[in-house]
Amino acid sequence: MSACCSSTDNWPELERGYRAMLPEDILAFIDENRQMDRSESMLIATLHMIQGHYGHLGPGHLEAVAQLMQVPLAKVTGVATFYHYFRLQPRGKYLINVCLGTACYVKGAEKVAQKLMDELGIRYGETSKDGIFSLESTRCVGTCGLAPVIMIGDEVHGPLTPGQVPTLLDSYLARAAEDLAAASAPEAR
Ligand code: FES
Repeated sequence: MSACCSSTDNWPELERGYRAMLPEDILAFIDENRQMDRSESMLIATLHMIQGHYGHLGPGHLEAVAQLMQVPLAKVTGVATFYHYFRLQPRGKYLINVCLGTACYVKGAEKVAQKLMDELGIRYGETSKDGIFSLESTRCVGTCGLAPVIMIGDEVHGPLTPGQVPTLLDSYLARAAEDLAAASAPEAR
C-alpha cells in the first residue's frame, strides 16, 4: 500500500484491510476521531493504545495508522521515533530498568548502565539481538537503600557494581535457556 493518503470515502475498505492488524476498539477510536476531523491531534493517543495492546509499534502499525488517520507516514514515523516512550521493536523476554533516581545516580547508576549497554550492545529503548533483554531507564523504584539498583522484570538487584553486571546477565541467560528447553521438551507422560 502507498504511504499516504487515501480518500476518507474509502474507510470501510481501509478498515477491512487493517482489521487483522489492529483490534476492534482501536479501529473504533480512530473512526470516531476521524469523523470529528481531529485525527492529527489524536495521533499520540492512538499510538499509545497500539503500543499498550502489542507492546511495541511495528512498521505495519505505523502504516495502518497513517492510512486510517489520513496522516502522512513520515509524520507518524516522526512522532513514534521522537518520543522515547514509544518502542519500535518488540520487548525482550526480560526488561531491564536502570534506576536513574537521585540516590542511584549519586551511587553510580550511570556506570552500571554503561556496562549493561556495553555487554548487550544496545542503548535505552532497544532490545538485544537475541531478543532476551530490553533496556530502559526509570526513576526511583523505592529501594534507595540498595542504590544503585536495576530491575530485571519485577526483581530488584542492588547495590550493583559494573563488575557484577556480566554475571547477573549470565544468570538470566541461563534462565532463558532453561525456559526454552522446558518449552521444547516432550510432555511427560
Ligand atoms: S533512587 Fe533508585 S531506588 Fe530510589
